[in-house]
Amino acid sequence: MTAPILRNLGDLRDLTRPFIRAGETIGVVPTMGALHDGHLSLVAAAKARCDRVIVTIFVNPKQFNNPDDLKNYPRTEVEDARKLARFDVDALWVPEAERMYPPHFATTVSVAGLTDVMEGAHRPGHFDGVATVVTKLFTQTAATDAFFGEKDYQQLLVVRRMTRDLDLPVTVHGCPTIRDIDGLALASRNLLLSDRARTRAPALFTEMERIAEGLRQGGDLETLATRGRARLETAGFTWVDYLDLRGQENLARLDTPDRPARLFAAARLAGVRLIDNIAVNDQVAL
Ligand code: PAF
Repeated sequence: MTAPILRNLGDLRDLTRPFIRAGETIGVVPTMGALHDGHLSLVAAAKARCDRVIVTIFVNPKQFNNPDDLKNYPRTEVEDARKLARFDVDALWVPEAERMYPPHFATTVSVAGLTDVMEGAHRPGHFDGVATVVTKLFTQTAATDAFFGEKDYQQLLVVRRMTRDLDLPVTVHGCPTIRDIDGLALASRNLLLSDRARTRAPALFTEMERIAEGLRQGGDLETLATRGRARLETAGFTWVDYLDLRGQENLARLDTPDRPARLFAAARLAGVRLIDNIAVNDQVAL
C-alpha cells in the first residue's frame, strides 16, 4: 500500500499523536532519498522491530559543504515512494527545506571529537548539518527507534553520541552495509557514476579487503596502504582522501588491529566521492 507523503509538521503530528497515546514504538529511517536496497534493508529492520515506521526523505542542505554536490544529489521521490510501497510503512516524511530551516533559524547541534577526523576533516560542517537535522527528524517524528547503515559508520557513531549526550529517548540501531554483487557498497551517489566508472568502482572494496587481510596476517599498515593507493590510482581513482585503520568504538587511529578495528576509505572516481569501511577484526583474543 502506498504510504501517505506528509510535507507539513501539523500533519505529521496528527499522524503520530495516536501512536504515542497508544504507547507504540515509532521506528524512523532517515534518508535523503534515491533509495536503494541498503535503505530498504533499514526499512525492513524497522518494520521487524517497531509498531510504526516512518521513512524521512530530506536532502539536507546543511550537510553539504559543496554546492555542486547538493545540486547534483539524485532526487527520485516518485520512484522512492514506489519502492517503499511493499513495506507498508505508516508515512513518508518529506519536509520542505524552507520549513525545516525557516529564516532566522539559528541552532546547530555539534558533536566534538568523533567529528574531527575523516569525513569531518574533509567536509567541514558536514556533521553539524547531520546532527542538527537528525535531532529535528527525531523530535518531529517522535521516534523511539532509529535505523542507520554502517556504510556511514562515522555518522552512526556521531548520531549515537549525540543521542546519548542530549538524552534523546531514541534507540539507535546500526545495520550492516549492503553491497552489490561485485562488492561495491550501495550508496545513492553510485547513481552519479558513468557506466565506465561503475565497472571500476568495486576496486575500492577489493583493495580494502586486501589491506584488511594483510593486517590480519600481521602485515605493516603503511606498506599495505601505499600499495593499495597505487592500485586504486591504476584502477582510475584520482584521489584517495584517506585509507585509515581506526578503533571501532572511538575512531582513534591505529597502526595495528590490536583491538576491535575498522578500515575506512574515501576516494574519488570520475568526480564522484565514494566512502566505505569494513571490519578488520571485531573480536580480539586477549
Ligand atoms: O545518511 C544520510 O542519508 C543522511 O546523512 C541523513 C542521516 C538522512 C541525515 O540527512
